[in-house]
Amino acid sequence: MRLLILGAGGFIGRTAVREAAAAGWEVTGLVRTGEAARRVAEAGGTPHRFTVTDPGTWAETARDARAVIDLIQPRLPARMTRRAARQVGAARRETTSGVLRTLGSLPADRCPLLVSVSGVDDLDPGEERTVSHTSPLRTAPYGFARIGLPVRRLIEQSGLPAVHVYLGNMVYGPGKGFGDVIVPGLARRRIPVLGSGNNRLPIVHVEDAARALVHVAGLDGVAGRSFVATDGTATTLGELFGETARLLGAPAPRRLPRWLTAAAVGGVAAETLTLDTAADVSALAETGFVLRHPSIREGLPATLEEVNR
Ligand SMILES: NC(=O)c1ccc[n+]([C@@H]2O[C@H](COP(=O)([O-])OP(=O)(O)OC[C@H]3O[C@@H](n4cnc5c(N)ncnc54)[C@H](OP(=O)(O)O)[C@@H]3O)[C@@H](O)[C@H]2O)c1
Repeated sequence: MRLLILGAGGFIGRTAVREAAAAGWEVTGLVRTGEAARRVAEAGGTPHRFTVTDPGTWAETARDARAVIDLIQPRLPARMTRRAARQVGAARRETTSGVLRTLGSLPADRCPLLVSVSGVDDLDPGEERTVSHTSPLRTAPYGFARIGLPVRRLIEQSGLPAVHVYLGNMVYGPGKGFGDVIVPGLARRRIPVLGSGNNRLPIVHVEDAARALVHVAGLDGVAGRSFVATDGTATTLGELFGETARLLGAPAPRRLPRWLTAAAVGGVAAETLTLDTAADVSALAETGFVLRHPSIREGLPATLEEVNR
């Protein structure tokens, strides 16, 4: 089975290439730089240089693939303000339009399934404070849903076969925001817990995020469906940061009063990181998906071992 991964040189993308190759897929990683191409090859995939908005550079590669996982995301600023979210949102809509144009140029019977990736901010947790595969989409802007919801609308308007996977608001693991910033910050007591830290933040280890996407790409009859891909635990932000600090042998992290959080990380990131909701992952489990890191008890030691390697 042939799988295309867009944004294959990124945090989740390169892990998805590695996990898909290990699971026996023939994986093509679409990238725009030589450095990203090297990462794809190292992870066991075949790199293909492309310009996402130019179908001529990748439509033939997409033809007859089983699925395309879209992990393209522009570089995020250190502070995710509403203004920054508008810019990132416009860039995401532009790249998504390029993806849809390319897939739409293929005959319907040779067009791969689009696996669209976002975060659980897009889903309305309702009075039960739980997000699931049946949750309605939010109607009022909240956190990264400002970016994700317009992208989903574009996909739905295209009429192309697509499945929507909602990852935990924090994908943790070695690299990027968690391994490269939060872990060293907690080690030096420079990263505080935002607010009380009592919010249940949906999280998932990067390997399980990548494995879930690859798993969904291989399922039959999932076009039009949504899946929530988190570890399904009710881990709070305070527990995540506190346990990481403890494993690092560092002092417990400070707490930043809630009214200062928006100034520190930007209002949009503050909403995303202080989200309080449980996550129901039963739809994914019913398709046979089994987590490798079912909680931070397994995921954090594995992460820190990699970070310290
Ligand atoms: N990380 C999380 O905590 C998290 C949580 C929930 C949902 N998600 C979702 O998961 C997806 C991937 O996240 P990530 O953390 O893996 O992001 P990432 O590490 O920033 O990777 C994004 C990738 O997109 C590529 N890219 C950016 N602009 C592009 C363009 N115009 N054309 C082609 N490629 C482009 C980048 O390529 P270069 O290497 O060339 O820059 C990079 O490889 C996003 O949709 C995000 O919303 C992530």
